[in-house]
Amino acid sequence: MKRREFLKLSASIAGTAMVVYLPIGWTPARSAGKWKVGFSQCTTLEPWRVQFNKDIEAEAKKHPEVDLVITDGQDKTEKQVADCENLIVQQINVLLISPKESAGLTGVVEKAIDAKIPVIVLDRNVDTKRITQFIGGDNALIGRAAGEYAVKLLGGPGKAQGNVVEIWGGMGTQPAHDRHDGFHLFTDKEPGIKYLLNNQSGDWKQDQAYNIMTTALRNNEKIDLIYGHNDPMAYGAYLAAKDAGRDKDIKFILGIDGLPDEGVTWVNKGQLTATFLYATPGAEGLRQAVKLLNGEKIEPVITLPTMLIDKNNAPEILKQHGLL
Ligand code: FRU
Repeated sequence: MKRREFLKLSASIAGTAMVVYLPIGWTPARSAGKWKVGFSQCTTLEPWRVQFNKDIEAEAKKHPEVDLVITDGQDKTEKQVADCENLIVQQINVLLISPKESAGLTGVVEKAIDAKIPVIVLDRNVDTKRITQFIGGDNALIGRAAGEYAVKLLGGPGKAQGNVVEIWGGMGTQPAHDRHDGFHLFTDKEPGIKYLLNNQSGDWKQDQAYNIMTTALRNNEKIDLIYGHNDPMAYGAYLAAKDAGRDKDIKFILGIDGLPDEGVTWVNKGQLTATFLYATPGAEGLRQAVKLLNGEKIEPVITLPTMLIDKNNAPEILKQHGLL
């Protein structure tokens, strides 16, 4: 992957100096023989989450001083809250969490911090400023890039024409809102673009997107572009169009995640027009936890880079992963 291919990070994130929050009374665990790092994952139902867990586990293997405990919230807020409570009782040295949604997980994150456990939040945020670090992709940037790309596909700025189906990720998550807002910054300027759905969420799931799209196809004779907030949903929409015999009419399907054996493969087959890389924060999360426990300086926010993946670079990425 060439450096210049990465899209530029938002200036607001890239250039800001912020202070790192640490729980009152907390000190690095340098003298401890083995560090217990707890990672609360919200679900393993989605392929991106499975890759995320693989990435954090592979990184943990490089650190024999780390004892990594991973829990699976099974896509339920209550289960993930209970998992975190459990990790707090186990007196972990640091909590890594990738929340199912922001509001429902904020309380237990505060509870961990009150118990002097620093918290590193991964991918989806929580509603407190007391976390030590946030690591994730720049979803607003990805949304804007998708919006700009969509306008180009539909005829270019000032001339874009088309009926758009947007399928939202989880409504209670910041990534979904940022992906929506960024996209609309570009598409809302185009009077020729019409939106066919009113904020419909497929909760990041392929099967739910399939159902949403099946209904949209039934209700609309002309659909030009689909924007899925992640690849599984974009692909679910593609499958619905294919099953209705209308996949050839809908030319432009955009997704986000860019896993080689999913999004990139679908782009390469022409089933999706493009996707945007959304790297998992698994490996970086573990590295940052180790730095923190070592008493090294860490940044309050780490933003992972993204890139456009379309038919031009999909084959090269597949080759790099031994998939072509
Ligand atoms: C997996 C996932 C990804 C998406 C991310 C957003 O649970 O839905 O597909 O990019 O979460 O938080």
